[in-house]
Amino acid sequence: MNFNPQECAASRLDLIPFSGIRKVFDAVSALEAQGKDVVHWQIGRPDFDTPVHIKEAAKTSLDRGDVHYAPSTGIPILRKGIAERTEIDTGVSVDPDTQVIVMAGANEGILVSMLALINPGDEVIIADPNWHHYKSCVSIAGGVPIEVETKEEHGFNLRSDDIKNKINSNTKMICLTSPGNPTGCVIPEDELQKIASLAIENDLIVISDEIYSRIYFGEESVAPSIFSQSGMSERTVIINGFSKFFSMDGWRLGWTIASPEISRHLLKIRQYTTVCVNTFIQHGAAAAIAEDQTPMEEMKEAFSLRRNIIVDGLKSIKGVSLALPTGAFYAFPNVKAFGPSSADVADYLLNEHAIATIDGGVFGKAGEGYLRIAYSCSSEECEKGVERLKTALEKI
Ligand SMILES: Cc1ncc(COP(=O)(O)O)c(C=O)c1O
Repeated sequence: MNFNPQECAASRLDLIPFSGIRKVFDAVSALEAQGKDVVHWQIGRPDFDTPVHIKEAAKTSLDRGDVHYAPSTGIPILRKGIAERTEIDTGVSVDPDTQVIVMAGANEGILVSMLALINPGDEVIIADPNWHHYKSCVSIAGGVPIEVETKEEHGFNLRSDDIKNKINSNTKMICLTSPGNPTGCVIPEDELQKIASLAIENDLIVISDEIYSRIYFGEESVAPSIFSQSGMSERTVIINGFSKFFSMDGWRLGWTIASPEISRHLLKIRQYTTVCVNTFIQHGAAAAIAEDQTPMEEMKEAFSLRRNIIVDGLKSIKGVSLALPTGAFYAFPNVKAFGPSSADVADYLLNEHAIATIDGGVFGKAGEGYLRIAYSCSSEECEKGVERLKTALEKI
């Protein structure tokens, strides 16, 4: 019999799409190959080099011969740094030996958490729009993603009242991403408190994605975490990583924080995924998290200036509205006035005006009508982009 490569895929592939973000990357490359000067608002990663002291620590480690397998939970010095940082940021004490697992990026932490904690049929509450890995990873694990629409007028925050309406006997988990991708919005402390009460009352696990927690423009230096709420540290898995605040996305490093018991569940799956992260890479990360934080604070300051350019620019365009982003490096403007769909507006901006954004619909149905702008590019590019965007939208 002839082998049919089309039909050999596992049926779970029908539940997950190819990434809509990657498609834009390909379109941008094609335009640049034609010599177009594209405004890069599509990339959700910092444009900065990784700070020098971090690179030096990784190089020293490599030269020292740290080229063998590391422990599956991560090297002790890195786990210690992560635990100490978590204590500073959340006020909750964390045991580096039993509560921290170093992952190959936050994304590995998400997939491992779902595979370790979700049974077929379990329902998982996810904000819509949201970082699209959540929905896909729940589906891969056999769970049922229950998307809860979030609204511009509520700062795109998942609210306890909306969550409450979705909880039933099959609900196992709530996923929070705060500061959010694609919206840049942050769930306030009082709402986290209410969500925590719901989780406790209904015996739910909470996955709290805090990868942008230190890129926060509020009064505190870090966004509030549900892990800090009373009774939550035992039922929360924090997902975090080095890609954003430390500008280390290509290093592929992240971590989870959870109770010793939950961490053991994650570890079991983890031993069959990447097993461990590259040893010398982890030594670089240990320097990143425990040594001089000035270069990262400077990057955050640069994001804050760019945010002002983008927010002021968007506010000045007639027909555009915006939920104020207070974290991450995203803005999520409403462009419903400019086209039949946000995919059309994104295509028009890219093809006619060389502005690369991501259609909000990529992040969920409730993202339709919005564009994700990643201001993780230089201030000059942000200014150029705002001027171009004004011209482009005025023409419609
Ligand atoms: C909310 C969120 N979580 C996780 C990730 C993945 O991070 P990593 O590069 O550490 O896998 C991203 C990347 O954009 C993100 O926005």
